[in-house]
Amino acid sequence: MAARTTTGLIVAIDGPAGSGKSSAARLLAKRLGYLYLDTGALYRAVGWKALKEKADLRDEEALRGLCAGLDLVATPHRDGTKVYVDGRDITGEIRTPEVSRAAAAVAAAPAVRRRLLEVQRAVGKNVGPEGGVVVEGRDIGTVVFPEAPVKFFLDASTEIRVKRRYRELKQQGLAVDLTGTRREIDMRDLSDASREVAPLRPAEDAIRIDSTALGQEEVVAAMVAAIEEKAGR
Ligand code: DC
Repeated sequence: MAARTTTGLIVAIDGPAGSGKSSAARLLAKRLGYLYLDTGALYRAVGWKALKEKADLRDEEALRGLCAGLDLVATPHRDGTKVYVDGRDITGEIRTPEVSRAAAAVAAAPAVRRRLLEVQRAVGKNVGPEGGVVVEGRDIGTVVFPEAPVKFFLDASTEIRVKRRYRELKQQGLAVDLTGTRREIDMRDLSDASREVAPLRPAEDAIRIDSTALGQEEVVAAMVAAIEEKAGR
């Protein structure tokens, strides 16, 4: 059932890996009849391309060059975001641990963040008065759409985030173990929080939700209630 809510909004959702923000964003978009822009998919697309070109993931100049020639298109839908590089749909190829690591590395490069800022804001501009988009990432409420009228910061304990990520990778049929998954989450937490440009932190006006003990439905119900309250219903 669609929620009774307003249209034309940008809803920002930020949080660390495994906080449940992708599932929450997808479900919320469906509830509201909004589009869902998964901005992590854009960083993953750049990481994917960098791996393909065997670029040095720590070399800012190399990444700047890669971004300059990058043909990247992102299309938000109700149930996810499709990404195309050089006209090829790579949506299904960017979920591997290898691409996760590459995405976290390239996300530290200012040239990459600048390029992706344009892509993300262009999607936001296309949201007409009848539309609405749930944008999910790490710096949406702080950098990409600081004027978003509704912002959420989702978090959960490290233990539960590792378990969720492990389950997700298993479901994709990848051979993973809990120790390796823990290492991946720790590495990504560190690079998200410590990079100089747009580090992960809650916007001052973000509504914080701890999803450690909450199911997806409960998280989304809390979000819908907050949005309706903002909209004065
Ligand atoms: O949400 P995700 O796991 O798909 O994101 C992949 C990487 O992209 C993550 O390690 C951090 C980076 N990222 C970012 O720096 N800023 C965003 N808005 C979204 C993702």
